Amino acid sequence: MPAPVLQQARILVVDDEPANVLLLERVLQRGGYTNVASTTDARCVLQLFQEARPDLVLLDLRMPYIDGFAVMEQLQPRIATDEYLPILVLTADITAAARERALSGGAKDFLTKPLDATEVLLRIHNLLETRFLHLQLQGQMHVLEEKVAERTQDLDLARLEILERLSRAAQYRDYDTGRHAQRVGELARLLAGELGWSAERLALIRQAAPLHDIGKIGISDALLLKPGRLTPEEFEAMKAHTVIGAGMLSGSRSPLLQLAEEIALYHHERWDGAGYAHMEGEHTSPAARIVAVADVFDALTHRRPYREAWPLEDAAKHIRKEAGLSFDPDVVSAFTRVLAHLSEESCTSDPAEPPRAVPEPLAVVGGPHGGGTI
Ligand SMILES: [Fe+2]
Repeated sequence: MPAPVLQQARILVVDDEPANVLLLERVLQRGGYTNVASTTDARCVLQLFQEARPDLVLLDLRMPYIDGFAVMEQLQPRIATDEYLPILVLTADITAAARERALSGGAKDFLTKPLDATEVLLRIHNLLETRFLHLQLQGQMHVLEEKVAERTQDLDLARLEILERLSRAAQYRDYDTGRHAQRVGELARLLAGELGWSAERLALIRQAAPLHDIGKIGISDALLLKPGRLTPEEFEAMKAHTVIGAGMLSGSRSPLLQLAEEIALYHHERWDGAGYAHMEGEHTSPAARIVAVADVFDALTHRRPYREAWPLEDAAKHIRKEAGLSFDPDVVSAFTRVLAHLSEESCTSDPAEPPRAVPEPLAVVGGPHGGGTI
């Protein structure tokens, strides 16, 4: 490393002998080091250290009030574990015990008194070179970490966009154009939040819930777009979208896709066990029980070709009536609280602003497809 770079280093000299301090200052000046702070009073070291933020400390061991060992003890908590901050000990006491104690206290090297100017400069050069290389390496690691974080974020965004477009593709084959899936995601997130889910899991359900009907990609248009009521056989065929969707999402190591798989598979199960696969109560996934409520509420409150949208109050009443039957009672309680919060928010919002809608809900009780969402 070029000497001019090292000569920018900040150096702190601590020795109770003014003559030693003066000598070291002159030696350092001769070596081209100009950022030097010094003290003969060890009690001032801590403050000086915090002010000067040195790259190197030259420290005497035998001093009144506080000796060099105690000074190192004071400094240690202020030196980050991943920071290489050399302490060069100046001592006439070169016993093995003193060396061992100094090394374990944080010293990186020793200089024996009386000091030799050439040796002082060489040791200082070596220690500073190591420190600066360490800092350089840390800087490069920081840049690399930032680049990795940036790329990871890009990948996450690309993955989310692909999932959103995939769910939109499935919805295009149905009576909506993708907004239904996103509304279900948003309502599912609100419900999960009310149920105390962590921020990380809230983000997951928000992203996974819109994929609940992804399996409809595997259902024929003749069924999906049939204007009239489905026959029992057709209804059975339509039910396969849960298994198809789960199959499309299965086998991933991504927590997001694993959650999406659960939701796709179980979102038509009922709390009383009368759903598609007759899975009862808590035997399904908590996320799917949340999505089941969000899915039906959104379906009811939005228009379909074969019926008008239900008023919010009627749809909410239906959801509450189904607690313990179609739906997990805890999720229904959370749903009631979410609606109350939303309605409070719309009451307290600026009257000039349009009232904030409940995240647009989805599909069909009593529709031509035979009641409930599909
Ligand atoms: Fe479905």
